Amino acid sequence: MTSSVRTICCIGAGYVGGPTMAVIADRCPQIQVTVVDLNQARIDAWNDADLSKLPVYEPGLDVVVGRCRGRNLHFSTAVEGAIAAADMVFLSVNTPTKTKGVGAGQASDLRWIEASARQVAACAQGHTIVVEKSTLPVRTAQTVKAILNAAQGEVAGVGTPKSFSVLSNPEFLAEGTAIPDLESPDRVLIGGEDSASIDALAGIYGQWVPSERILRTNLWSSELSKLTANAFLAQRISSINSIAALCESTGADVQEVAHAIGADSRIGSKFLKAGPGFGGSCFQKDILNLVYLCGHYGLHEVAAYWQSVVDLNAWQQHRISRLVVERLFGTVTGKRIAILGFAFKADTNDTREAPAIRICQDLLEEGARLAIYDPKVGDDQISSDLGVPATQDLTTQQSAEGSWLTCSTPAEAVKHSDAVLILTEWASFASLDWKQLAPLMRQPAWLFDARSIADRSAAEAAGLHVWRVGCGS
Ligand code: UDX
Ligand code: UDX
Repeated sequence: MTSSVRTICCIGAGYVGGPTMAVIADRCPQIQVTVVDLNQARIDAWNDADLSKLPVYEPGLDVVVGRCRGRNLHFSTAVEGAIAAADMVFLSVNTPTKTKGVGAGQASDLRWIEASARQVAACAQGHTIVVEKSTLPVRTAQTVKAILNAAQGEVAGVGTPKSFSVLSNPEFLAEGTAIPDLESPDRVLIGGEDSASIDALAGIYGQWVPSERILRTNLWSSELSKLTANAFLAQRISSINSIAALCESTGADVQEVAHAIGADSRIGSKFLKAGPGFGGSCFQKDILNLVYLCGHYGLHEVAAYWQSVVDLNAWQQHRISRLVVERLFGTVTGKRIAILGFAFKADTNDTREAPAIRICQDLLEEGARLAIYDPKVGDDQISSDLGVPATQDLTTQQSAEGSWLTCSTPAEAVKHSDAVLILTEWASFASLDWKQLAPLMRQPAWLFDARSIADRSAAEAAGLHVWRVGCGS
């Protein structure tokens, strides 16, 4: 399959825009791809000669960017020129949950999508295919179309009159596996009304994705499928976390239960890992969006059903912090707790909605002193997430209660702690040497393994009390 598209512009050089465009440029050397962003620092980082400094950490991304950058992949802040030159414009800007006004706490804030659509309307030349890549509430394409249609027929310079076609092409990549997810996706979804534009986009993916995996739907099905996919995935996590709590009360083991039910091919084995609850930029935002939409259409029971998935997730996080306090004799005031992992999952530096945020905030509120280690997340990010700056020294008097700092190794974090709490499943945590770590701790010492990754028997043999999520024995 070939495509008529020769130049692409992507607005938004974030976790989605950057890796997606890098793979398109890699697989389609005949297409010039320019990724634009308002944020100069982010663009500079994408252009950094040192590929380890790219603003997004994804295994394999540096190699792909290294192959294409300067050839047919460009990162720039010159938004207008890139739009004018493009046959196809991807909208990949962020769409966070609204914090105020109508729908606050649930609806998506579409101001950046609208601003981008207006910019495309103003700067585009000739025919332009506009592709929604950001996850959006159903019927957003209506807004995008209305803005673009207002400019339809205008002539920029000596060019042909402007015309637009809008497609929805949601991204299903998961962070940490963005490159393999993009290189061999389970499916690519293209929603639209105009078959020539759908063919043009399908032609791009067709360079490396088998045609039976490229699904075509109408615009609204495509927008809704993305929200639904994330809602179903998140629902599985809340379901297994609810059962984890029951396992702990009944003597069952959630790993055994998950294995047993996952063997039923109708249920399937993926996304059944109990943990500290889901994080990431998408799950909570998309479900809240779904809840808001249901409410808007008067489907209050449906809204309540999906809301419960988010509520259970928050409950699981508070449950873990409460449980830590209870096991440590009912108080953590002034106690040092090592937090291993802050990212919302392994292999990413992203902390958006990370379970660590809520759990650490609860523990700080209780007066704990937290020694945090994460191989990819630094002080600045943690301080903005927790809303409290780091302290210099956890041993000084004024930092005694409710303070935190970061450590450069797990051992440094664990030293003098009463407990270790594992919140991200970084592979290196599986091989921690408990025989060496346990004696560094104040006894009696605890290991709280919210990711079921540590070597439990080695930790117990080293004298630690161990709690593992969902393990009742
Ligand atoms: C994506 C999707 O777009 C979002 O809908 C999805 O639900 C989560 O993932 P992501 O790539 O993770 O967003 O967001 P982010 O890393 O914040 O990147 C968005 C970029 O767009 C930022 O770099 C921001 O500077 C840029 N931006 C935003 C613009 O260039 N112009 C704008 O008007 C607004
Ligand atoms: C998700 C979707 O998977 C992806 O398709 C969509 O495009 C964006 O949202 P992402 O947020 O990057 O991707 O990560 P994902 O791997 O889905 O994990 C989300 C959260 O769920 C993480 O906090 C993870 O630790 C947690 N999780 C996942 C579990 O607790 N248990 C599981 O079994 C799986």
